[in-house]
Amino acid sequence: MRIIVTGGGGFLGRLLIEGLQAAGASDIVVVEIADADVPGCQVVQGDLARDDLLPALLEDAPCTVFHLASVVSAGAEADWEHAVDQNLGGMLRLLEACRHSPHLHKVVFASTLAVFGGFTAGGEVGDFVKQTPSGTYGTTKAIGELLINDATRKGHIDGRSARLPTVIVRSGAPNAAASGFASGMFREPLNGLPSVVPVAEETPMVVGSAQNTAICIQMLGEVDGDDLGHDRAVGIPGLTATVAEMLAVLEKVGGAEARGLVEMKYDPGVDALVRSWPAVLDDERGRSLGLPADADLESMVRAYMETLNR
Ligand SMILES: NC(=O)c1ccc[n+]([C@@H]2O[C@H](COP(=O)([O-])OP(=O)(O)OC[C@H]3O[C@@H](n4cnc5c(N)ncnc54)[C@H](O)[C@@H]3O)[C@@H](O)[C@H]2O)c1
Repeated sequence: MRIIVTGGGGFLGRLLIEGLQAAGASDIVVVEIADADVPGCQVVQGDLARDDLLPALLEDAPCTVFHLASVVSAGAEADWEHAVDQNLGGMLRLLEACRHSPHLHKVVFASTLAVFGGFTAGGEVGDFVKQTPSGTYGTTKAIGELLINDATRKGHIDGRSARLPTVIVRSGAPNAAASGFASGMFREPLNGLPSVVPVAEETPMVVGSAQNTAICIQMLGEVDGDDLGHDRAVGIPGLTATVAEMLAVLEKVGGAEARGLVEMKYDPGVDALVRSWPAVLDDERGRSLGLPADADLESMVRAYMETLNR
């Protein structure tokens, strides 16, 4: 079966593709706006929100589409027009291509816990808590989840949305996510470089390792649609950690020297956005569907350190 990964040249896309290839997938097409070389994949370069890239790719047989292309949190907050154009425009183009295709395609949408906010800010959420996002990013993702549910109900796709926690530790260059510091505070010091944390030490976040999150996205694509029911949005398992707890793990794995490379430099704008997200996730539904969870914070960081030794 053909697999299409939009945004497949990005961080999670590459990890997901490695997992898909390890499971035997060989026909993988990456749709990517950036100039990307993804080993073992056909890369179709273009803007998903503007270019008609998908109809030809969906023509021959049923496919699974992992939709990861997105403007991310701080980038969306900085440029509303671009975020709405890209995140909603890309989703609509994808759903239209599926609707007009002769085949029923599976669509796995990378959503986020930032669909929550407002009255749930800093609190506990589960899959069936009302979404009141406090940012443009979360708003576009919440709309995307509803469109996935409706397109599934109409029989245009077999859809599902993966509500991802903040993923740590992101390797390579940071993107425009407001949560980027949560990776940078490990990545930079563990590579001997300084890093800035713009939020208070007591700020809590729901975090998951990149490795576990990519596996969960892949597995959500394999879950039987009937087991998901009408609401196709599933919280991907993650655990709660405050910035202080993350700093303690950094010191444990990297020593005082690594901890000393982190500068606390408060930015009220970033702190407000991060604190609008939930602090605790009830991930029971995801787990009952068979999605795995990280053991603890330290193992997430050690999983990143292993990638440095490859
Ligand atoms: N990493 C996280 O902590 C996290 C948390 C929650 C949700 N997510 C979601 O997971 C997905 C992947 O995240 P990531 O961390 O790999 O981000 P990323 O920025 O590394 O990757 C996104 C990729 O999408 C591509 N892209 C953007 N707009 C496009 C367009 N119009 N057409 C084609 N390609 C386009 C970008 O060039 C980039 O390579 C995103 O949808 C993001 O919102 C990520």
